[in-house]
Amino acid sequence: MAGIVPKRTLEEIRFRNDIVEIIGGVLTLKRAGGTFKALCPFHKEKTPSFNVNAQRQIYHCFGCGKGGDVFSFMQDYEGVDFMTAVRMLAERAGIHLEFEDGDPGERSDKDSLLKIHTGMAEFFSRCLAQMKAAQHARDYLAKRELEGDMVKAFGVGYAPNRWDGAIQWARKHKVSLELMEKAGLVIRRDQDDPSAGYYDRFRDRLIFPICDIQGRVIGFSGRALADDVRGAKYINSPETLLFRKSRVLYALDQGRRAMVDKREAVICEGQIDVIRCHQAGFTTAVASQGTAFTEDHANILRRYVDSVVIVFDPDHAGQNAAIKTAGIFLSAGLGVRVADLPEGEDPDSFIAKEGAAAFEAVLDRGMSVVDFQIGILSRREDLSTDVGVMRVARDVLQTILRSPNSVQQARLMQAAAQHLNLPVAALQDELRHLVRRQRRPEPAAAAEAPAADAAPPAIEMALCEHLVHVDEHPGVGPLVEQHLPLDMLSDSRCRAVAEAALEAAREGLPLQELLSDMEARTEGMQGFTVGLLMTTSKVQAEDLSPVTAVQDLILRLWRRRLTEERDGVARAIPQTAEAQQRMSQITLDLNSLKRWETGVDVIEIELAD
Ligand code: CTP
Ligand code: MN
Repeated sequence: MAGIVPKRTLEEIRFRNDIVEIIGGVLTLKRAGGTFKALCPFHKEKTPSFNVNAQRQIYHCFGCGKGGDVFSFMQDYEGVDFMTAVRMLAERAGIHLEFEDGDPGERSDKDSLLKIHTGMAEFFSRCLAQMKAAQHARDYLAKRELEGDMVKAFGVGYAPNRWDGAIQWARKHKVSLELMEKAGLVIRRDQDDPSAGYYDRFRDRLIFPICDIQGRVIGFSGRALADDVRGAKYINSPETLLFRKSRVLYALDQGRRAMVDKREAVICEGQIDVIRCHQAGFTTAVASQGTAFTEDHANILRRYVDSVVIVFDPDHAGQNAAIKTAGIFLSAGLGVRVADLPEGEDPDSFIAKEGAAAFEAVLDRGMSVVDFQIGILSRREDLSTDVGVMRVARDVLQTILRSPNSVQQARLMQAAAQHLNLPVAALQDELRHLVRRQRRPEPAAAAEAPAADAAPPAIEMALCEHLVHVDEHPGVGPLVEQHLPLDMLSDSRCRAVAEAALEAAREGLPLQELLSDMEARTEGMQGFTVGLLMTTSKVQAEDLSPVTAVQDLILRLWRRRLTEERDGVARAIPQTAEAQQRMSQITLDLNSLKRWETGVDVIEIELAD
C-alpha cells in the first residue's frame, strides 16, 4: 500500500519547493545573516529560536529541537503523513506524481471528485453572477449585506431552481452520473432501480463551497432563499470520499495564516457568521458544518492556534453547544474562552447591526469556560440551595476535568470556587469524588494495588509541592537526585511526579507538559497535580528557602526509612549479633539525621551500601 516515489522525483519536488518560501508562506520570517528566524510554530515562545537555512534548505528550532527539510516541515506543520506532504508539495510545484499510494481506483475517484467540485463551484458561481433567474439570490445577498469581494473570496454561488442543473452540467462535461452521485451532487430517484435516473441535490439555493485546507472545494452547503421554504434552511453535501464533516472546518483555508499570527481562532456556528466575521476583519473565524465539533477539529486547530474564542448563538441550544465544544477544545489542550452575545443575535446579525468594534469588545469580554458555564447554569439552577450549587459545581468540574493541563485546571478550579463562593478545598474534594466515580472499577487489580484514593503521606506530598516548582528553584532538582532514591516514596503518584520533575530539571524540559502528559496517561492521576499546584501558597509561605525545606524533607524521608528498618530488625527473631550491630548503627544514624550536615554523611553511606 505504501507509496513509492522515486528518489529522483523527491529531489525534484524538494528543488522546486524553496523552504524559505514554504515556511515564509505561513510564518513571519526575519533575515538574520545567512538564515531566517521566526517564532517557532511547534512550541510557545516569545523570542524567535526557529531558524531556516536557505542554503541548506533545512530548518531547526533551538527551543524545542524540531527540525528537518521541507517535507518534514509540511508533515509537522500540516499534521499530515509523509506521502501527503509529498503530494501537497508536488501539486504546489506542478509535478505529476505517477506513483501514488492508496487504492488506485479510490485515488482516481478522488481526483475526479475534486475536478467535479471545482467545476460545479464555477458553475454555481456563474449562475449567481449571470443568470436572469438568479435575481432573487442577488437581492438576497444584497439584503444580507454580504459584499462582492466576500462573495468572490468565498466563492458563493447559486444553484438554479431546476431538477437537472447539475445533471446537464455533467452531460456537458462528460461526467458520469454515478460519479456525480459519489460527489453528492445528484440523488438517485429510486435506490433500488438504477434506471430510474437522478435529480439535483441543490435547487434554488445560495451555495457556499466548502474547501479543504489547501483551498480545494470538497463539498457544498446550500441555504434556502426564503425563510419559510419547505425543507431545511441548509442542505449540505453528504459524506463523500472527499468530504468528512468531522474534520472539515469552514474557512480554515482562508483563516489559517491569520491564525498562525494571532495564535487564536474565533469559532462560530454558521458559514454566514464566518463570512461576516472575515468581512469585518476577524479573519481567524471558522465554523463546523452545522455538526458538532470533534476532537479532530480541535487537533487540526491546535496546529495553528493556542486558544479559541467560541461565539455561538445565545439561545439554549447554542449555549449548550458552546459548553460542549469548550470541553472538546479543552481536552485538546487549547485555551478556551466563550463570548456572550445579546439575546437574539448571532455573530452575523450582531456585526451587521453594531459593527466590528462592538464585536471586538464582545470577543475581548470572552470569559473562561467556567465563568460562562456557571453564568448559564445559575440561570437554570437555584444557587441559594446546596443541591443547586452542588449540581452546578459537578457540571463545571466535569468541564474542568477535560483539560489535560494541570495549570489550566488549577486556574479554572480557582475561578469556579470564586464564582460559586465555595472554598477551593470543597471543590477539590468533589473533584476527587468525580474522578473516583469515573474510574472504571477493576476489582482484580484493586486488591493488590495500594489504594490510590488514600491520601499520600504528608511528607511525600510536601516534597512534591516543592518539586512541581523545580524550574523556579534550580538547586532542588540536583539535591533530590543526589540524596533521595525515588523508590523511597511509597505513593505511586508522588513517585511519578518526582520522576517527572527530576527529568524536567535534568533535561531542561517543560515540567508542566511532562506532568500533563503523565496525568493523561496514568489511571488515577487526573487532578492530582492540580492539588499540588494549588497548595503553592502554603509551601512558599514557609520561612525556609526551598532548598533548605527540601533538605529537611529528604532527612525526614530517610528517618522514616531507617525507623521502619529498625522496627523490622527489632521484631526479627532470633536476634543475631549482626542484627544487634545493625540496630546500634541505625540508632546512631537516626541521631545524625537531625541535621543536614551530619545527615548527608549517613545518606551517602547508605546509598553506597
Ligand atoms: N445548519 C445545517 N442544517 C440546518 C441548519 C443549520 O447544516 N438545517 C448549519 C449551517 O452550517 C448553518 C449553521 O448550522 O450555517 C448554523 O445554523 P443557523 O444558526 O440556523 O443559521 P445561520 O448561520 O444563522 O444562518 P442564517 O443567518 O442564514 O439564518
Ligand atoms: Mn444567522
